[in-house]
Amino acid sequence: MCGIIGYIGKRSTKEILLDSLELLEYRGYDSAGIALFPNGADEPTIRKIAGRVSNLREVCGDVTDEACAGIGHTRWATHGGVSDANAHPHHHGRVTLVHNGIIENYKELIKEYNLKDQLLSETDTEVAASVLDHFYDGDPETAIRETVKVLKGTFAFAILFSDQPGKIFAVRNVSPIVVAMTDHGALLASDVAALGVHAKEYAFLPEYHVACLSSKGIIVHDEKRHEVPLQLMTIDWDTSRGGKGGYPFYMEKEIHEQPDAIKDTVSPHIVNGKTSFAEEGIPDSLFRENQNIVVIACGTAMHAGLIGQQLFHTLANIHTDVAIASEFTYTNPVIKPGTLVIAVSQSGETIDTLEAIKFAKKKGAKVLSIVNVKGSTIADNSDYCIYTHAGPEIAVASTKAFTSQASVFYLLAIHAARLNGLLSTEEVAHYLDELNRIPEIITQILDKKSFIQKMTNKFLSHDQAFMIGRGLDYSLLLEGSLKLKEISYIHSEAYASGELKHGTIALITNGIPVVALVTQSALASKEYSNIREVQSRGASVLLITRQSLYKDMNIPEEDTFILPEMDDLFMTFPAAVVMQLIAYYTSSAKGYDVDKPRNLAKVVTVE
Ligand code: F6R
Repeated sequence: MCGIIGYIGKRSTKEILLDSLELLEYRGYDSAGIALFPNGADEPTIRKIAGRVSNLREVCGDVTDEACAGIGHTRWATHGGVSDANAHPHHHGRVTLVHNGIIENYKELIKEYNLKDQLLSETDTEVAASVLDHFYDGDPETAIRETVKVLKGTFAFAILFSDQPGKIFAVRNVSPIVVAMTDHGALLASDVAALGVHAKEYAFLPEYHVACLSSKGIIVHDEKRHEVPLQLMTIDWDTSRGGKGGYPFYMEKEIHEQPDAIKDTVSPHIVNGKTSFAEEGIPDSLFRENQNIVVIACGTAMHAGLIGQQLFHTLANIHTDVAIASEFTYTNPVIKPGTLVIAVSQSGETIDTLEAIKFAKKKGAKVLSIVNVKGSTIADNSDYCIYTHAGPEIAVASTKAFTSQASVFYLLAIHAARLNGLLSTEEVAHYLDELNRIPEIITQILDKKSFIQKMTNKFLSHDQAFMIGRGLDYSLLLEGSLKLKEISYIHSEAYASGELKHGTIALITNGIPVVALVTQSALASKEYSNIREVQSRGASVLLITRQSLYKDMNIPEEDTFILPEMDDLFMTFPAAVVMQLIAYYTSSAKGYDVDKPRNLAKVVTVE
């Protein structure tokens, strides 16, 4: 949450900061600000404003391009409402800083350092700036070290000192900071999305290390003040594919990127017709010896885990639980020898998932993570990590990361089943063929997107909807329903169809849209009975099924979508894309900013 950028170099600092903040805006878009150190000035010039980066750009017209350093921030409000005063950067004495994270003991610090009458905002960040100024006597690194000793919570800071022009300092705990050297200068950012246009390589700043960016380069000191080399990582996505690529929203572009994302994620793990995780150093024993799996994740990533659960059950006969990461630690989870924890995260920074991982590791579990962002904190804190190769996901609503995560679960379940002798060579070949077909199948759905767009008319005059399905269809609808809620603000409930009668059917009244997903051969006849039940209460049903399971239910043709045929287990992929497009077109038809739904942020680094 919150985007941070810092730049020292030959190009226009102002433009680099503003352009980068636009790229980082998905991390938070309540307010934005920059602090720029004009050449020869005594202190930085600050501009900050509630609202989007476009608002900030308007108030930066008079800010000079001639600067020796600059930092910027996009905010997702935690402490203190959305206002100009609460926007970052915060300035106190000789310190100007931007912050990502939460300082939990800010109230105690206000008392301890007697700051009450000096604060201009309601933020924990300004308290940190004041404490840093308190410790500052001309030696930035000592002051930073003294300050972080008294801070409790999570933080990533980019800092300017008024008497240190041409230098940016950074330090972090949990919340990430990445740095990169380019041919025109040094950059730091809260995530690599802002660096891709400038650099091919980047490095994560290790926790509690202090970085100093200057025209001489990037120097990093460890806690003993020894210089440490940057551990460089390569940006492995095609940066020329940045931007919206001609689509009105990133979400639509990312939906279209799914065939490539899945192909790039799956193909490295099929070697000589067999599943392989040798590249990641994952030993076969992990799936031979562990006969219990617990998946921990949040939101969409957790829904990928629900699909994984059914695959491990169906293919590999491995008992699998799925836990909402934020609840995991409170439920006294049973972690015994033989339990493998699988953590799933697009960003690799979700604090709830990270805390759950730390908890599981303390209990002795081995943790395997499925992560999209290379080198991220969750990847770093796991025993093994499988990267999805979805590339940067900018839209807040996750799409290509979800199907890529799901594709890893298919690979893992086939792998575990194969290692435990539960699948014949022919069966493995069949499932891998199905995995290889997914990109083509998704393309077939995308070719019919205008039909799906018309289907969404159904939702436009309603403020609630239901989605019903059984088995894998139900798991997938939980995701479809989340997608609809988060970007179209229609309250939607996904229900296991059999559970409707146990209360929920009372809410099905005349005209209520109900999406019915019927892709599982063994469950179809029960599913059609459930459709009949909601129809007889007046529901207006949108049927998503496959030709082989289609049944005439008096549902108009324009309300019926026929999915391409795949093996039952793999029908989640075409269905996922239809559900994503339904949510996308509903939100855009309502005129919403699809990529930046209200009150949300892409990377959730607060508990
Ligand atoms: C919804 C969505 C969120 C994330 C969740 C976990 O579209 O994107 O529900 O899935 O916040 O985020 P990651 O995967 O980054 O841990």
